Amino acid sequence: MRDQNDVVIKIRDLRKSFRNNDGVEAVVLDQITFDIFRGETLVIMGGSGCGKSTLLNCLIGEYDVTAGEIVYKTKDMPAPKNIVGMNEQGLNDIRKRFGILFQSGALFNSMTLAENVALPLREHSYVDPSIIDIVVTLKLQQVHMLPHRDKLPSQLSGGQKKRAGLARATVLDPEILFYDEPSAGLDPVTSAAIDELIIDLSKKLAVTSIVVTHEMDSAFRIADRMVMLERGRVLKVGTRAEFERLRDAPVESLSSEAERLMNQFLNGRTIGPLTDSDGTSEYEKLLVLSRASAY
Ligand SMILES: Nc1ncnc2c1ncn2[C@@H]1O[C@H](COP(=O)(O)OP(=O)(O)O)[C@@H](O)[C@H]1O
Ligand SMILES: [Mg+2]
Repeated sequence: MRDQNDVVIKIRDLRKSFRNNDGVEAVVLDQITFDIFRGETLVIMGGSGCGKSTLLNCLIGEYDVTAGEIVYKTKDMPAPKNIVGMNEQGLNDIRKRFGILFQSGALFNSMTLAENVALPLREHSYVDPSIIDIVVTLKLQQVHMLPHRDKLPSQLSGGQKKRAGLARATVLDPEILFYDEPSAGLDPVTSAAIDELIIDLSKKLAVTSIVVTHEMDSAFRIADRMVMLERGRVLKVGTRAEFERLRDAPVESLSSEAERLMNQFLNGRTIGPLTDSDGTSEYEKLLVLSRASAY
């Protein structure tokens, strides 16, 4: 059984709102509560616009959250630390323990792959140049990109850029790896290969992986557990097996609207509670209703 000692990130009642240009506050995340356990691969999924990237940005301390707690307990911390309201120096200290693979790979175009991968080493540590070369070689090898070490990002395919981004994300031996839509823009075969790499690295490096995706095939391949978001709220947190059961259940057997909605999403069906037969989403209808009632 897992207990609180196995929790790497504890998220409690997280709320994030943005103020629009007209001064109106838009709540994008609300009452987000779940735990992330050491060594697991947790997939955060949901439709486009449900708040996945916003949640990721809150977790990495990129966004100021409006309310709630994000408590980290990495291996070297004597006591858990809440990053909400933490200063930049404290945040940077925690950021050293994690790597991030951004949607684009976020490589510098003017640098070779090897230089891109070496960058965090140069910035964050005091490693001798010959050691840097050894580490870079090892990290490129790990993602099968060593033959391309002297190429520029513009000479690489989408999948290769992701691999290179992953080499860079792992170069400081992180304890936690964050991925934002790792298979976005890739063909199904390349996307499956990146999934294999995520699984492989999570085992070899014994990291905790947090993957944000809207791609169901990918989510079911890599996840130990899943968090389903819908309109900025957690619909369900569960193991992959629990989500598989929900996906494979006949719709008639599901008793709640939330379950039917998840069943539709997990199966990628166009008709169901998420969307009407005319393709209008429930959300759009709610918006229309709330606008109508405003007059
Ligand atoms: N910086 C921002 N300012 C205002 N609204 C934002 C901002 N970032 C995201 N949003 C809004 O928050 C919602 C969730 O966005 P996002 O987290 O990017 O969704 P996802 O990654 O699930 O597609 C969207 O409605 C989006 O318009
Ligand atoms: Mg996103």
